[in-house]
Amino acid sequence: MKDLTIIKIGGSVITDKSSETPKANVEAIERISQEISSVYLERKMPLIIVHGVGSYGHPIVKRTGLDKGIKGISHYKDLLETQRQLDKLNFMVTNSLIDNDIPAFSIQPSSSTIMKNCSLKEMDLTLVEALLSDGFVPVLYGIPAYDEIQKCSILSGDDIISYMAAKLKAEKIISATNVDGVFTSDPKKNPNARIIGEINKDNIGEVRTWLSGSTSTDVTGGMLKKVTELLGIGIESQIINANVPGNIVRALKGERIGTIIKC
Ligand SMILES: Nc1ncnc2c1ncn2[C@@H]1O[C@H](COP(=O)(O)OP(=O)(O)O)[C@@H](O)[C@H]1O
Ligand SMILES: [Mg+2]
Repeated sequence: MKDLTIIKIGGSVITDKSSETPKANVEAIERISQEISSVYLERKMPLIIVHGVGSYGHPIVKRTGLDKGIKGISHYKDLLETQRQLDKLNFMVTNSLIDNDIPAFSIQPSSSTIMKNCSLKEMDLTLVEALLSDGFVPVLYGIPAYDEIQKCSILSGDDIISYMAAKLKAEKIISATNVDGVFTSDPKKNPNARIIGEINKDNIGEVRTWLSGSTSTDVTGGMLKKVTELLGIGIESQIINANVPGNIVRALKGERIGTIIKC
């Protein structure tokens, strides 16, 4: 779709990811809504917003083992409780977007998705396409979903953006997280890590050896999974730091900040 932009806001930005209980970063949610709004209201490009889950999802999933599948009927409650928490986070994000004049239409992604062995097998995008063509901004989020093998696995925001970008032929994909981009090693652990401006076919082999998960609890693979997913879709994408005010505006306007992933 011409000019389609997909932006993912990481759970590391909109929540306190070091917390073992759900804790939203209300100020960040509001600032990010304002940043997206300032560009959206000027350009009115087709836009999809996806957000991660941070402390609303990863600790409970890790504690209950939901990512490893359903172990009996008593486990259903953990799945539904996790979904309930994530719906609360999504309500906060969507409210803030609407208050900032973005026509944000929330979509509960697990109601139209089937996973298979922890991979996204099929997501029905009929509604997303209809909404886009009528000028709404679909808002989706990571959530435990039905898995046809293990009955439940985690549909991450990273899964959603790469699936939709490929199916809908997005023009721009921005993944906003809590570090400046992809580094030569985890910058939260190694102060000497250097940022990589561009990942392309010449350095991808080397880059893979530099990637690891997350310093916080992240059951969906952290930076390694993020980059692997983005590499797979064959569309240029960008990883930026949304904790730096103004970065979302700059990326949405096409500035090549952070790390560019070329395929
Ligand atoms: N080579 C790397 N470059 C940058 N970040 C890395 C790298 N390896 C691991 N990470 C970790 O990935 C984290 C971002 O992934 P994640 O926690 O999943 O964020 P999000 O919640 O935004 O999806 C960073 O905070 C960092 O600790
Ligand atoms: Mg993550």
